[in-house]
Amino acid sequence: MANPFFRKSLISVEQLTHPQAIEFLFKLADQMEKRVKRKIAGQELKDSTLAILFFQPSTRTFTSFSAAAQWLGNQRLIALPGMGAYSSTIKGESLPDTIKTIEQTVSADLIILRHPDDNSCQIAAHAAHVPIINAGSGKKEHPTQALLDLYTIKKKRKTLDHLKIIMLGDLRNGRTIKSLSKLLALTAKDVEIFFISPPQLRAPRHLIRQLKKKGVKIREDKHLETFLPQADVLYVTRIQKEWFPSQEEYLKLKGSYKITPATLKKASSQMILMHPLPRVDEIDIRCDHDPRAVYFEQVRNGLYIRMALLASILGKI
Ligand code: NCD
Repeated sequence: MANPFFRKSLISVEQLTHPQAIEFLFKLADQMEKRVKRKIAGQELKDSTLAILFFQPSTRTFTSFSAAAQWLGNQRLIALPGMGAYSSTIKGESLPDTIKTIEQTVSADLIILRHPDDNSCQIAAHAAHVPIINAGSGKKEHPTQALLDLYTIKKKRKTLDHLKIIMLGDLRNGRTIKSLSKLLALTAKDVEIFFISPPQLRAPRHLIRQLKKKGVKIREDKHLETFLPQADVLYVTRIQKEWFPSQEEYLKLKGSYKITPATLKKASSQMILMHPLPRVDEIDIRCDHDPRAVYFEQVRNGLYIRMALLASILGKI
């Protein structure tokens, strides 16, 4: 198929309505993996200029986008992880003005943006003349994380269909489960999602309605145990401290769930244990040795997916 990402922004997973577009990206990511393993850098982004603007903290997304650009031969990368603290935002500059400025100063062909506001990437895309990639917006969306999560599930299970997935933790504030559940609804047949959270941190009602409309079977509970034995995937998330009104409120719910080797004994031997990371205390480090734990593989897959996406958007494939 023709490159469906060419010169387009990626703001929301809801843009990815064609399973073929996902397949296109995954095939390219497979090629990127082979290339990285052989330590062969490409030339696709040699003549492009990229700006990476992060207004929120990041370890994986920031470094993997930066590394992805370099693996594609990019030499003009302006990577700014401290926009929230060091840009003129502090002086009251609006996001559209910041984006328009960066287009001028950097002469960017593409802008990768992480921002605490839900609609930040839409606003940026409206202000910009070049594509915007959403690298995490507020509590709402994290499309590249959802793509690498989906890619990991596909690699591990060979198919996305007939999937029983538990999404556990802070489902109210976490953005990864929202993007991943919507992407599953768009791309996989016969999906059952068990949303497990403390009652205060349930997934938004509009998300549940949207998923049900797409035919996804939904169950909600606060107990993990009932659903664990039947799950193909256990997707754990952290309680999102930064969105709580007070430390006290956070401490009440911190530690709500803790996955230990004993928990994994109750799960199927074929299940995979995922986490977008960073983890705080919700997965015991002793689980890291279990072959079912794939969270660091997810991180590596993020490099391949982001390479595939950058090359596709800039059209050098
Ligand atoms: C996630 C995020 O930023 O939403 N991190 C990531 O990009 N892998 C998850 C989180 O912060 O909990």
